[in-house]
Amino acid sequence: MPILFHPSSGEFHLYNREISYILEILENGHLGHVYFGNRLTDREDFRYLTEYASRDMGACPFEGRRNFSLEHLKQEYPAFGAGDPRYPAFEMERADGSRVVDFRYREHRIIPGKPRLEGLPAVYTQEDGEAETLEITLEDPAIHMQILLSYTIFRDEPAIARSARFVCQGPEPITLLRAMSGCLDLPDKDYQMVELAGAWARERHIHTRELDCGVQGVYSLRGCSSHQFNPFLALKRRETTECQGEALGFSLVYSGDFLAQAEVDNFDVTRVILGIHPQEFRWELAPGESFQTPEMVMAYSRQGLNGMSQTFHRLYRSRLARGVWRDRERPILINNWEATYFDFNEEKILEIARKAQELGIELFVLDDGWFGKRNQDNASLGDWYPNREKLPDGIAGLARKIEALGMKFGFWMEPEMVNKDSDLFRAHPDWVLADARRPYSHARNQYVLDFSKEEVVDCVYRQIRKILQEAPVSYIKWDMNRSFSEVFSNGNGRAWQGKVRHQYILGVYRLYERLTQEFPEILFESCASGGARFDPGMLYYAPQAWTSDDTDAVERIRIQYGTSLAYPLSSMGSHVSAAPNHQVFRNTSLETRANVAYFGTFGYELDVTRLTPAEQEAVRRQVAFMKAHRRLIQFGTFYRLQSPFEGNSSAWMVLSEDGSQALLAYFRILQPPQGKFERIRLAGLEPTALYQVTEAGRDWGAHYGDELMYAGFSVSDFSSGVGREAYERQGDYFSRLFQLHRV
Ligand code: DGJ
Repeated sequence: MPILFHPSSGEFHLYNREISYILEILENGHLGHVYFGNRLTDREDFRYLTEYASRDMGACPFEGRRNFSLEHLKQEYPAFGAGDPRYPAFEMERADGSRVVDFRYREHRIIPGKPRLEGLPAVYTQEDGEAETLEITLEDPAIHMQILLSYTIFRDEPAIARSARFVCQGPEPITLLRAMSGCLDLPDKDYQMVELAGAWARERHIHTRELDCGVQGVYSLRGCSSHQFNPFLALKRRETTECQGEALGFSLVYSGDFLAQAEVDNFDVTRVILGIHPQEFRWELAPGESFQTPEMVMAYSRQGLNGMSQTFHRLYRSRLARGVWRDRERPILINNWEATYFDFNEEKILEIARKAQELGIELFVLDDGWFGKRNQDNASLGDWYPNREKLPDGIAGLARKIEALGMKFGFWMEPEMVNKDSDLFRAHPDWVLADARRPYSHARNQYVLDFSKEEVVDCVYRQIRKILQEAPVSYIKWDMNRSFSEVFSNGNGRAWQGKVRHQYILGVYRLYERLTQEFPEILFESCASGGARFDPGMLYYAPQAWTSDDTDAVERIRIQYGTSLAYPLSSMGSHVSAAPNHQVFRNTSLETRANVAYFGTFGYELDVTRLTPAEQEAVRRQVAFMKAHRRLIQFGTFYRLQSPFEGNSSAWMVLSEDGSQALLAYFRILQPPQGKFERIRLAGLEPTALYQVTEAGRDWGAHYGDELMYAGFSVSDFSSGVGREAYERQGDYFSRLFQLHRV
């Protein structure tokens, strides 16, 4: 995995077995981009790949040379102006208002491993030799500014992690107006852009569109990465499928406002930029200060979208997630939210816990409503002490009683928020992100605490720490239920206002860091009204996230399929809930609900005391099944096989780390009359190995890997029944789960 510098051509070549990334020092000292893709044999000089063109109106730095125009050159970290009018990677302003900059190569170093990013989540290395990092320093001496561009290549992953650091050396201050994490100029536009978009209860649906001239992309200005879009995009060739063809993935390790954009210019050059959204961002740097951007991870695949996703899965599961839970099988939990909402007392909670324990469930999660005077959503956020009317012995008492049943205990919190009806708000009305001279927009009767202020974070930290010190707590669900509106940091002066949205996220990260360091055994699950902050930044602190408030099995097929584009199964909170479902009121079988929920961290979100004896027996079997298969599911290799966005049925599979076992899930939304024959082609198997296929104990024979992958496996073979009997067993929202064992 070397990073080479060729002095004669001024080129850097980062490569491993699978990929090459090549950049160069251009004639004017700026950095040019040469290539990112399948690995190339190294050579001294790739400059023939740098294309020059003489175009009318293109501004050129060298007098008399009409073909050196930055507008028509592929660049690494482009500035605005200076001849390139496309959207830039960064922009800054001097005290006199000038935004003209000229950053040139100054020096570089190549270092083993990967330095941590101060205060920010980032992919890391664990052992020597896993990665190498190239740091290039650019300098604009006229304004005494440096930009440190960092590129890490991993030995075993077709991925590059990038970020930028701005250093103001003085004497004059500089204001950053835009500081993206990275930019990639690609030589053509023959791609389809794949993005994850949605809304509350239908997060991360896959949307695909042709790239075309102009600007296209996704973003958030909501203060969190959002339900609406995800800090991710992929470019794939038109012929690329789940299992074949070229795909590039771009992912931002960040949880706040972001922009992920592809701009196609009039010569079909595609420029991808990712980073903190420049809208509302204005960061003053005093002499001696620096600004570190979040990290962007780029993955390259020739094995289709699955190849790209699997790179993100491996990296994010094992080199982004941290802590003792990273590599542990996740506990099967029961959460009381959809069972009781706010209406519970200790007796009811213990009744659910007792039954859950009997069924084999391992962890009880007490959701919203246990603190202050919280009986509905209009009070007590901010008051993190137990409601003694509901819990006479507090959290500590309840936790001990649950532990005595043989289960672990966890609870819900929403530390970034406050209700007006709370002791915290009454004591500190100025701690809310709002302009007190104007009306505040509420959402769910709550307001956002100003986490850009250290004292606010500190106060919340002390309250939570007190509970964790007193009670045996094994799990925390950290929620965040509204987006930003009137963002103003009271009393912090003008300059702070351009920093506050990023400072807020840094405050959230600091609180996470303190709590996870101090209580390393606690499993954290992030949540934001379901999946509004399902992003790589959160995974650094919380190895799993509540995927969506929508627990309907049919909706979850789409949500989990889309989420898997960038995120591993071990990160997806997935529960079996009641029927009819509480979000879409659909009735699905208990079997289908479990068949979807298995592919994640798994748990239950219903009142188990109301299940019939037959249902209880089914749940007992499901829990046992998950215990036996969760290592395979959470740490295996996941393949999307058939997209739920393209038809009535869908399929996915997961293959164990050693390849000896697999699970294949097939879902059919509506029962067609006289349905077509359907075969699913599996993936990732050894062509000549024999696999025994079973379905709930029923033997479907032994088949070679090549048969299963190339001829396919029939999921419409219902030879077990005839006529009406066979149909009745199916119906709408039908699913099948097959197990494969290598013989
Ligand atoms: C939103 C979450 O997504 C739900 O699971 C639940 O915890 C509620 N908040 C509680 O208010």
